[in-house]
Amino acid sequence: MTTNEAARPRVAQEVLLDQRDLTKAFPTPEGTRTVLDGLDLQVRAGEVVALLGRSGSGKSTILRTLAGLLTPTSGTVRFRGEPLTGPNPATAMVFQSFALLPWLTVQENVELGLEAKGVGRAERARRAAEAIDLVGLDGFESAYPKELSGGMRQRVGFARALVVEPEVLLMDEPFSALDVLTAENLRGELAELWQRPDLPISSIVLVTHNIEEAVSLADRVLVLATDPGRVARDLAVDLPRPRDRADPAFEAIVEEVYRTMTGRQRRPARTSPTVATVPLPDASVDGLSGLAEVLAGVGTATIGRLTDLLVLELDDLLPITDALDLLGFVTVEDGVVSLTEAGRAFATSDIQTSKRRFAEAALDRAPLVRAIATVVDHTPGGTIGGGFFREVLLRSFKDDEAELQLEIAADWGGYAEQFSYDSDHDEFVADPDRHGLRTPPGDLDPDPTPGDAVAPRASEREVRP
Ligand SMILES: Nc1ncnc2c1ncn2[C@@H]1O[C@H](COP(=O)(O)OP(=O)(O)OP(=O)(O)O)[C@@H](O)[C@H]1O
Ligand SMILES: [Mg+2]
Repeated sequence: MTTNEAARPRVAQEVLLDQRDLTKAFPTPEGTRTVLDGLDLQVRAGEVVALLGRSGSGKSTILRTLAGLLTPTSGTVRFRGEPLTGPNPATAMVFQSFALLPWLTVQENVELGLEAKGVGRAERARRAAEAIDLVGLDGFESAYPKELSGGMRQRVGFARALVVEPEVLLMDEPFSALDVLTAENLRGELAELWQRPDLPISSIVLVTHNIEEAVSLADRVLVLATDPGRVARDLAVDLPRPRDRADPAFEAIVEEVYRTMTGRQRRPARTSPTVATVPLPDASVDGLSGLAEVLAGVGTATIGRLTDLLVLELDDLLPITDALDLLGFVTVEDGVVSLTEAGRAFATSDIQTSKRRFAEAALDRAPLVRAIATVVDHTPGGTIGGGFFREVLLRSFKDDEAELQLEIAADWGGYAEQFSYDSDHDEFVADPDRHGLRTPPGDLDPDPTPGDAVAPRASEREVRP
């Protein structure tokens, strides 16, 4: 690679990429959906910026606008002060999925980007060989992607991005598809590459779900808020490289990011919770029971400690803590999760009592579970087609989200012994012991809409002993 030290000063200064008051909305069948709102983001020469945020917070959307692949709905993206009008030639992207062409060799895959730029054959071959060497794939030039391990494929992904010598390298969860050890190994190599004076790039924007990854690689960690996405926190990571994860200063920053990410989300102020305002978190009963048991053992724990203990990614853990929080089984305060009295009773009782406690909590606090339980109880055969609830949900959710809500409700309702889901007939079926035992039909709102709570609260209802 050409030596290009001047392009990457150690001290961040000149603003390369500048997004101002950016808004991005997508049309959906249910209306326009604003994914990013009032987003300000700058990337300076010489820095690594990590973007952290929950799934759906708009991280990939931000990268695509920086790359000029997506036009913002309003606001501007500038590169060195010039507004972008199309693909940004100063950027290259590394994808989670590697995105290699299977019918091309390593060398040919790496040369692709140069071909698009009109670089001549001999020059292409030379530069590709250098990039392949840089990522440690020397000797694999004529291999095909299928002959390579996941880690090696992602090295090709890196080489293909590096070969065009982008000023800013954009990476969208580059390590997420790799096994833990390979990912850790590649992270270390990226950190080393970044220290090399001959690395032909000036800045990196790294999207990740992994807080430690962000803190170990970045100069700044931007934490995004969700719905709509904007920068909630801009944290400087002012630690010497290579970073030492055991350093208390490192741990302090990791904990700070955890606290920011698990800070209470603003809930819309509505009088009665509905299937639209209180969606079920994507957590199975197995998952939330497991976590409640762990908490009953360790008492109170930080989110960071729990991800370590359970070897879970933050994104896998948060829906479970959200679910326990929704059910009133835990409180989450400043990144610290504590079991409530109800949660302890749920976690430590015998199975029948646990089920009953779960049923009480779900009927009381999970509007979709309550709605389904109530409706099946009041239909003549104790069944109702899934389409009924799908239609209600589709007023507020996208197709796949609505489907997921129904799946979660089926899992929770089944464990609570309220109803089951019969996938052959796409029907919710009242638990045989339950049918006819609930509130009289007159109480049921015949047209449940997302704006209404459709059933009485559990405290007014009988729950299976
Ligand atoms: N082309 C599109 N049309 C409609 N909606 C879209 C489109 N692209 C993204 N979205 C929606 O915008 C939101 C943000 O998407 P994005 O992929 O940027 O999130 P993300 O933070 O990268 O999530 P993840 O962590 O799951 O990768 C999501 O709800 C997504 O469904
Ligand atoms: Mg994404």
